[in-house]
Amino acid sequence: MTKNIAVIRGDGIGPEIVDQALRVLDKIAALYGHTFQYTDVDMGGCAIDKWGDPLPEEMLKKCTESDSVLLGAVGGEKWNDVPGPMRPEKGLLRLRAGMGVYSNNRPAKIWPQLSAASPLKKAIVDKGIDFIIVRELIGGIYFGEHKTRDIDGVATAIDELKYDEKEIERIGRIGFETARKRGGRLCSVEKSNVLDSSRLWKKVMHRLSEEYPDVELSDMLVDNCAMQIVKDPSQFDVIVTENMFGDILSDEASMITGSIGMIPSSSLGATSCGLYEPIHGSAPDIAGKDLANPIGTILSAAMMLRFSFDMPEEADAIERAVSAYLDDGYRTGDIMGEGMTQVGCRQCGDLILERLSK
Ligand code: IPM
Ligand code: MG
Repeated sequence: MTKNIAVIRGDGIGPEIVDQALRVLDKIAALYGHTFQYTDVDMGGCAIDKWGDPLPEEMLKKCTESDSVLLGAVGGEKWNDVPGPMRPEKGLLRLRAGMGVYSNNRPAKIWPQLSAASPLKKAIVDKGIDFIIVRELIGGIYFGEHKTRDIDGVATAIDELKYDEKEIERIGRIGFETARKRGGRLCSVEKSNVLDSSRLWKKVMHRLSEEYPDVELSDMLVDNCAMQIVKDPSQFDVIVTENMFGDILSDEASMITGSIGMIPSSSLGATSCGLYEPIHGSAPDIAGKDLANPIGTILSAAMMLRFSFDMPEEADAIERAVSAYLDDGYRTGDIMGEGMTQVGCRQCGDLILERLSK
């Protein structure tokens, strides 16, 4: 098969981690007889520097015209003082919206080899951590109006949080469908004791649940959920939640699995053209030092093969190679543990490539 992949290296550690993922994709292409063509896309801080815009229109077009997009990370201190609408992160938000990828799937699964890297007590980890956060990605407070103005001489900032029932329903359906394919349990997370948008969220989830009698729906307030994720993560199968809550909870969920550097994500909308990115940021403090963990990006490439290109065997092969690398005791700094061999980003790529076979 021939596939056109738009590649966004982005800022900070983005270029180094994406390069390792592309080497893995190239080997998959050679092993399975595929052709992957890459189109470079500038987005984030580097696009601001080059084009004066975090996501120029023609860059977005390259993405929507591709078969899928692989992204490293964007942002960094250098652009902290640019005005809100021109920030690197705004490029990412515009990309997600422009691609219409409303459903962000973030797995929180502990690799058995990394159980000691989890900050949770062994007794909690041993109960198992294997759940998915389905995060609404193109609505809510990140996409409402943002303004800062003087009201009676007092600087006042306003961020609008808005959801309509159609937006809630389409992500709700993804939540139910995901649960149906897994353990059949869906936890809808909101803040309905305070927010109108959450009350509507809860109502729509319950209406939908009538169509999915095989899925057990529960509700949880987001503050309680943050607590339950560290208290007993084994209780979760699929969590469905709105944009900002999903952003926050997915960082928490990744940490209990050992490292945010390990977690991939997929974002999909109405078509098979998806956006695949690790959930971590651009880590400017370690950028260019060959220290980053490329596995979140490598596993994002595997998700691309599985969910957008219908290549499950190829995706399995990548996941097997990552597992073999961990089995053999190699670790980047973020997951380094006693008795392990510390490696850098490029060497991590080399070692995974060596273990990648059909
Ligand atoms: C993430 C990131 C982004 C988000 C930022 C960089 C805009 O935190 O993917 O989780 O909030 O979605
Ligand atoms: Mg985040």
